[in-house]
Amino acid sequence: MRQAGRYLPEYRELRERHDFLTSCRTPELACAITLQPVRRLGVDAAILFSDILVPLPGMGIPVDFRPGPVLGRLVRTRADVDSLRVVEAEEATPFVMEAVRLVRRELPREVPLIGFAGAPFTLATYVVEGGGSKSHSGIKGLLVSDPETAHALLRKCAETVASSLCAQVRAGAQAAMLFDTWAGILSPEDVNTFVVPYARRVLERVRESAGASLVPTIYYAGDAAGWLEAAVETGAQVIGVDWRIDLAAARRRLGPRVAVQGNLDPAVLLGPVAEIRRRTERVLHGARCFEGPRAVLRPGPARGHVFNLGHGILPSTPPEHARALVDAVRELSTKETP
Ligand code: CP3
Repeated sequence: MRQAGRYLPEYRELRERHDFLTSCRTPELACAITLQPVRRLGVDAAILFSDILVPLPGMGIPVDFRPGPVLGRLVRTRADVDSLRVVEAEEATPFVMEAVRLVRRELPREVPLIGFAGAPFTLATYVVEGGGSKSHSGIKGLLVSDPETAHALLRKCAETVASSLCAQVRAGAQAAMLFDTWAGILSPEDVNTFVVPYARRVLERVRESAGASLVPTIYYAGDAAGWLEAAVETGAQVIGVDWRIDLAAARRRLGPRVAVQGNLDPAVLLGPVAEIRRRTERVLHGARCFEGPRAVLRPGPARGHVFNLGHGILPSTPPEHARALVDAVRELSTKETP
């Protein structure tokens, strides 16, 4: 999830001089911010500093952060959707790929860089709502009243996002992650219609463009307890989940074909270190539980678990607690379970 941000004094210091979007659009700044949590926390992987809304201006939608996202134009009708552009990422957002190249030069060889984009449905949610929303009545209303227009918008979002992820991989990103933060606002039926096919299309394009080089794909399925099995149909190799689902249950429901990523509640980092360690151990234990041949839950080697927070780190998190978490994961995940 997001590992850079306001909880780090070095991030706040940089942001006093540069606004958020300038930081995303200036490769040297994006590179410096990407490296901040890697240096301070000692995490195993870096995630590029950027935002899922960065491709929108290239589609013809101005974006601002005050501090939440505010879009400069509402997209609701078929004519609105038809006027949106699909531009290749190298043309629309060359600074993202330049940031990827800079980060790769600076990162230690053993620390991979994760490139990312918003999943088509989550991006479409922002496009239709014009920013954050509580009820999501704009996008949900569109799905039921004008599904053709919704599909046209999702197609354009999918092509834009695929172009961005493929370009990041070509520039040197070693894994590709899609964030579907808002897919969980839908019924399982709507997830199958409006979410999965478009995420799948994006990941297919990433795999095609990566060719023989091994680029793991990760699909973050927000609030997915009601439809988790469908997430596997995106074709991602790793499914990220939040804390609303027990990790052992998620592991079992996802089946043996995929690895799981997650899922500590970021709010746990606000608590004392002893409690952080206890809850980290619970997550690691959950990842080790899978259905054996007799369909009983039993501990065993984790079949592919990427430890992660279930969502972005909270701005009020003490940085030393985030460091304590990383240390705890290292220590506890190498320990044999009884
Ligand atoms: O290292 C990293 O942190 C990776 C960079 C990253 C950011 N956003 C930077 C950011 C990533 C992977 C994202 C993804 C993102 N952006 C998502 C999907 C994941 C999720 O959080 O659900 C979404 C929905 C967004 C859209 C977005 N960006 C919102 C709603 C906000 C405002 C809310 C907030 O937390 O302040 C942002 C701003 C944003 N994106 C910040 C960062 C570090 C905070 C900016 C600041 O105040 O300096």
